[in-house]
Amino acid sequence: MSGRFRFIKSATQLQECPSDPMPEIAVLGRSNAGKSSLINAWTGSALAKISAKPGKTRLINFFESKAYRLVDFPGYGYSARSGDEQASWAGMIEPVLGARENFRAALILVDCRREVADEERLLVNFLKQRGLPVGIVLTKVDKLNRAEADKVKRASASITGVDHVALVSSQNKTGLVELEEFVFQNWIQTSGSTR
Ligand code: GTP
Ligand code: MG
Repeated sequence: MSGRFRFIKSATQLQECPSDPMPEIAVLGRSNAGKSSLINAWTGSALAKISAKPGKTRLINFFESKAYRLVDFPGYGYSARSGDEQASWAGMIEPVLGARENFRAALILVDCRREVADEERLLVNFLKQRGLPVGIVLTKVDKLNRAEADKVKRASASITGVDHVALVSSQNKTGLVELEEFVFQNWIQTSGSTR
């Protein structure tokens, strides 16, 4: 399927992003949601940097396989300096998400122990306005039992209006193969841009 991934480059603005038309999946979500961990579990590598401290990823990082790229974004909602952080997140991310034709879809990651909040609803609306399909990925499900996880999944779907909600644990590697297959079949293999 996707094969091996390698790190291509980091960017802070549109002009620094790769300029070829390879399909990309944006990996978004609040700081500490587990974006970089998911990319490492997905790619079977330690390519992305992980930290217990929120705000680890400061740049937009591109990881590439033969078929597509996973794009690791800095997190939003980093609580210290939240006003500034939010403004700089929007300032860096929105032009890239809004203007790049490469993105086939976006995954919004949410720690399964947190309620999906206004931040995610706003982000879903922003992405949908730009014609990008959205999937919600509830992370760290090793922290919940099955019934609790299913409840969070249903609530997340109904709050955001997003149909595709996945439950994953990067730590235990649960849900990853299903997520990867879903993304590949629905958003990569199907040819052409959706926008
Ligand atoms: P930023 O780069 O700050 O935006 O964070 P991020 O979303 O990339 O999160 P990151 O992958 O760095 O992980 C944040 C913390 O969550 C780390 O302490 C990880 O070890 C932990 N974590 C990530 N995935 C899992 C998981 O599946 N289970 C558990 N229990 N912890 C996880
Ligand atoms: Mg990160």
